[in-house]
Order: sequence, then structure tokens, then C-alpha cells
Amino acid sequence: MRPARTAVIVPAAGRGERLGPGTPKALRSLAGQPILLHAVRAVAAARGVDMVVVAAPEDAIDETRGVLSGIEHDAQLVVVAGGETRQDSVARALLALPPDVDVVLVHDAARPLVPPEVVDRVVGAVRAGADAVIPVLSVVDTIKEVDGQGDVVHTLERGVLRAVQTPQGFRRDVLQQAHAASDGADATDDAGLVEGQGVVVATVPGAEEAFKITRPLDLVLAEAVLARRRASDGVG
Ligand code: C5P
Repeated sequence: MRPARTAVIVPAAGRGERLGPGTPKALRSLAGQPILLHAVRAVAAARGVDMVVVAAPEDAIDETRGVLSGIEHDAQLVVVAGGETRQDSVARALLALPPDVDVVLVHDAARPLVPPEVVDRVVGAVRAGADAVIPVLSVVDTIKEVDGQGDVVHTLERGVLRAVQTPQGFRRDVLQQAHAASDGADATDDAGLVEGQGVVVATVPGAEEAFKITRPLDLVLAEAVLARRRASDGVG
């Protein structure tokens, strides 16, 4: 019997309005190549990944296939149509998984610079027995809750807070059950759905370079990170 496999779902169907109007965020250029291309290359480079399923904007499926056709990788690559919300996009990608996949990661296209070690750490923790695993960082800012007027209600204790990144990893059955039970709720991350099912979500260390490209300044930072990587690889 062939060993069970690990797939990474990449929701990439968002418009990315906070980055400014125009092309869907995942297809915008970062150092001369679409953000999505960087993201897929990053996850496909991780040792434990056998398959990548991209949920693309419905009106840009062929364009997305074209963008991804040039990369060299050993992982199998599938492109499906995404949905109205991030959660819909992930649900559609789940339907495209073959039966022999038993571990599923979900990685935002908007985090193109995730180091492969973070992906491997998440896969490793699920393979070691966790139902659900998320990469996290300590929070550097003090976080306060405010009311409708913007007045502070209270200050959260920073030491117990974590900023959550992707890829988030799951036993396939755990993630599928959480999606089936979610009843159209629009969770901003998949671990949130799984928590709602009473499943324990474990954490592993994330990485600063796995930050999410959301606002224009994030693109400037991402270009700088790539330039630093190129310089340290002695390329270009
Ligand atoms: O908008 P935000 O940055 O939180 O989106 C996170 C990820 O979810 C992005 O990679 C985006 O492309 C994806 N997404 C999606 N389908 C949607 C909305 C967002 O795949 N309908």
C-alpha cells in the first residue's frame, strides 16, 4: 500500500482590496513574479509536502494555471475555483483531495515568504499525533479591547497572546468535520473552525518572514526580504 500523503491547500481567491484596487492579490507582482508563485514554491519546497491545491479567483483560473506552470517541484499541483469567502475557497479545495491524503495544511497565498522549515514543523507535529497545529509568534504590541466609540474597555495580558500565521495543519478528518459543521460561518482561519468543535489546537514556532502581505507597505518589506535572501545566496 502507498503511504498516506500530505496536501497543502492555498486559498488565493481574495481580491486584496486593502492592497489597493486592481488584479487579485495573489497575482500581483513581488520582485517580478506573482505573489502566488512565491507561495506555492515555498510550500512545495518543504520535504513533507506531496500535493498543492490552489483555490484561484473564479475569473482567473487559466491565468493562475499559466502562472504556476513554470515552477519546478516534485509536488502534484491542482488549481480549483475559489469561493465568495476564504472559508468557501478552502471548502472547495477540500473536495479536490484524493482519498490517500490524510494530513492537510492550509496556507494563505498572501504569505509568500514562509520558510520551508515552518511548513515541515507543522507537518511534523500533525504526523506526531496532533489533531491541529498552528505556527505562532509572540505579540510585540500591547493589545487593547475598545468599545463602539473607540474607548478602551480593557488591556489584554500580552504574555499569553500569540499572533497566528499559516500554514495551519490538520488531520484531514478533523478539518473536514469542522468545515461540514461550520454552517456558513466565515472564520478568518481554519483553526478557529476546529476550535469550535472542541478540538485541541497545538502551537509551534512561526517565523517573522511568514508575515501576511495585506497593505502596500508589506510589499516593500517582502521585496526587502527577497533582496536579502538573494544577497545571502550570492544570486543576482
Ligand atoms: O483577505 P485576507 O488577506 O485575510 O485573505 C487571506 C487569504 O485567503 C488570501 O490568500 C486570499 O487570497 C484568500 N481568500 C480566498 N477566497 C476568498 C477570500 C480570500 O481564497 N473569497
